Amino acid sequence: MLQIEVKNVEKSFKDVKAVRGISLAIPAGQFVALLGPNGAGKTTLVEMMEGLKKPDSGEILIQGKTWQKHEHELRTIIGLSLQETRFAEKLTVYETLRLFAAFFELGEERVNEVIEQTGLQSKQKSMTGTLSGGQKQRLALAVALLNHPQILFLDEPTTGLDPHSRMDLWNILKSLKDKGETTLILTTHYMEEASSLCSDHIIIIDEGKILKEGKLEDLLDEKSRNLDELFINLTGKVLNNKL
Ligand SMILES: Nc1ncnc2c1ncn2[C@@H]1O[C@H](COP(=O)(O)OP(=O)(O)O)[C@@H](O)[C@H]1O
Ligand SMILES: [Mg+2]
Repeated sequence: MLQIEVKNVEKSFKDVKAVRGISLAIPAGQFVALLGPNGAGKTTLVEMMEGLKKPDSGEILIQGKTWQKHEHELRTIIGLSLQETRFAEKLTVYETLRLFAAFFELGEERVNEVIEQTGLQSKQKSMTGTLSGGQKQRLALAVALLNHPQILFLDEPTTGLDPHSRMDLWNILKSLKDKGETTLILTTHYMEEASSLCSDHIIIIDEGKILKEGKLEDLLDEKSRNLDELFINLTGKVLNNKL
């Protein structure tokens, strides 16, 4: 069964058309990259899939169900981290995870599992206000993973991180991919992130529309030997790819 179906979805903010008729079909276990520059409409699209924003028109189905009718059930199967996550600065990593775990009626055991999974063992007693950018992103991922989500949404999880922290996060996501139990929708403006984690399904979006979509190998040819060249050929613009 398809995990996510997006059918001709549109969303505007006053006179800004953020998403202009996007359709998607995402099967179970796939890691999908939504790749595009700032302002492309990635967050708006993802927040509609997450049931946080309502499309002006079109339809979104998660495991065949709509947010309007099945919000409670859908909340239990998705995990998400927003583009900018703020935690209570005076709570420790452990306390923060305990708090979120309580929402899902999960115990300490699960908290310890996600701490290990995201490599935060040595930081459990640190207040979140003292964490580095990479550690904060790993905490956001740990929160998103708590309830064993079948579908995980990560909005620019590595933007602004140094290359080492970015690599740490990729490695955590690669292990998750190897387990094969999670569908991932990841937004990014890093070509390398899309190629290495989501080579089965890369969606290039700009100005609220899909410009190109497919497996990495099918997107490339002699004219576009990598995603950077492809993006330039599609738009005439350079996508931020400073790694
Ligand atoms: N709440 C909002 N109010 C007004 N304009 C918005 C709002 N959210 C997004 N936009 C606009 O919609 C467009 C797409 O934004 P966004 O989805 O955040 O793009 P991305 O995540 O790819 O950077 C941009 O032009 C942005 O300024
Ligand atoms: Mg965004």
